[in-house]
Amino acid sequence: MELNNVRYSHDNGITTITINRPKKLNALNQETIQELHQAFKKADEDFNTRVILVTGSGEKAFIAGADISEFADYSVVQGEQLAAKGHAKLFDFVAHLATPVIAVINGFALGGGLELAMAAHFRIASDNAKMGLPEVSLGVIPGYGGTQRLPQLVGKGRAMELIMTAGMIDAAQALEYGLVNHVTSQEELIELAEKLAGKIMKNSSVAISSAITAVNAGFEAGENGFETEITEFGKCFGTADFKEGTSAFLDKRKPKFPGQ
Ligand code: COA
Repeated sequence: MELNNVRYSHDNGITTITINRPKKLNALNQETIQELHQAFKKADEDFNTRVILVTGSGEKAFIAGADISEFADYSVVQGEQLAAKGHAKLFDFVAHLATPVIAVINGFALGGGLELAMAAHFRIASDNAKMGLPEVSLGVIPGYGGTQRLPQLVGKGRAMELIMTAGMIDAAQALEYGLVNHVTSQEELIELAEKLAGKIMKNSSVAISSAITAVNAGFEAGENGFETEITEFGKCFGTADFKEGTSAFLDKRKPKFPGQ
């Protein structure tokens, strides 16, 4: 896997995917989106990856949006294709991964950057982070899921205001809105991410994947989240992790989940 704009590292169950175009504030060009697709796919298929962290390189930005220089002269058809391809390769792709993804927002998360963070399963941020969907200031709308995922996370009125004003909120406001789960200093951000990952990794990875599927189903048109929950709940009873989890509880010992 050759990566020019993305760094991929693995340590102790955690795979960290870092967008690495700091001079362009990690803006998402097509090459970077393709590389992120490859990196997320590889991590999800790796049995040893239990949690994926996604973050930006440098101290200034997580991702300052889609790369504006790439689409400035696009036609209507090209615009639609850009959004559709982005959903398939990255944003929907990440949201539906079986492995938990935490967005570690270390600075600006704007436009496509906030949309990628929102596609992750949850988000934490450093206290210098700023978030927003500034697309209407460019004459376009969020096209990588922002009009759907922002209202799901913060409520319709707040999402409408953020989108219409093209404004940015700081980390404290994002925490109050429930857009991020925790805020810490930039120095302690990765440590916090690893601490949360550590808690996740103590649990059954198979059950966590089922939980992701069930939670996602409730937000998808045409799917009944309760029905999906029942199906996924039932599936758990056929797993080695369930046998181990329940036996360990009854034997008063800590479980050693096989991840199957
Ligand atoms: N697309 C392409 N290039 C981008 C970019 C984006 N979304 N965001 C930043 N960059 C580039 C800048 O063009 C600049 O490149 P240059 O040095 O070759 O001129 C470099 O990254 C640094 O950005 P700069 O604007 O000089 O930094 P700043 O600290 O003054 O401002 C921001 C930071 C984030 C406020 C500003 O870069 C910005 O508004 N970016 C666009 C955000 C946006 O609208 N995103 C949604 C896109 S749909």
